[in-house]
Amino acid sequence: MEVIIQPNKKMAAELTAKVIADHLRLKHDLVLGLATGRTMEHVYAELVSMHKSEGLDFSSCRTFNLDEYVGLPAEDPHSYRSYMNHHLFDHINIDVRNTYLPNGMAEDLKEECRLYEKRIKECGGIDLQLLGIGETGHIGFNEPLSALYSRTRQKALTQVTIDQNSPLFDPPEKMPRRALTMGVGTILEASRIIVLVTGEKKAGILAKSVEGPITSMISATALQTHPATTIISDEEAAAKLENKDYYYWLWENEPEWEAYRKTLS
Ligand code: GLP
Repeated sequence: MEVIIQPNKKMAAELTAKVIADHLRLKHDLVLGLATGRTMEHVYAELVSMHKSEGLDFSSCRTFNLDEYVGLPAEDPHSYRSYMNHHLFDHINIDVRNTYLPNGMAEDLKEECRLYEKRIKECGGIDLQLLGIGETGHIGFNEPLSALYSRTRQKALTQVTIDQNSPLFDPPEKMPRRALTMGVGTILEASRIIVLVTGEKKAGILAKSVEGPITSMISATALQTHPATTIISDEEAAAKLENKDYYYWLWENEPEWEAYRKTLS
């Protein structure tokens, strides 16, 4: 795992989008794992802008979202399908048939989860997975106690997550209490993982996720076992990290980041 700290959330989102764009330029039929949440809106805005200004090409890209609420039809404005259409898919040249989200309306949810895993495998696995972190330390909707080897399945949401996400629903009580989510084990199979974490509210959970012990109570800690995970954070979210000096050094000196340092400064 490596940690890259940027001065503010705009620059952190810009860097995340640039890394995704570079993967896409290198592999046109990239299998991209996508996340939702307020943090990601800035990344998607950046990708849309790169598509419009530089012709960033999504025509052969396949995408798999991490999760979807149970019981919300795709057309519901609160569904993650609507979120993805609104923030990304409607504004780029992606073939919507190549964009996958678990179907939270499926009659047989277990079978839906099995098929989702199968579809990921048939596409050759996820090349690059984008992640955010929820206030419980969840990745996807892997709430506390999620097995570190878990696969795509139905998960009951905690009160903390309901409090975090229900303000996005109108009325807030409409937020479903269950979701389908890729498992921690599913996520860890991605070849590369980029985690974007911004804002002071995430400072405590980010420090625990990066520098704390691995535990199923905080599913993001499982990323410590992944060989190619980069956490990109802003200063606010990085506030409680103990080894910040080392992380600043990585950004300033690692050759991997040289090209990005030049374009972002
Ligand atoms: C939801 C999603 C997560 C996301 C989290 C963070 O719970 N299931 O994948 O990381 O929100 O949301 P935000 O970016 O709004 O803080």
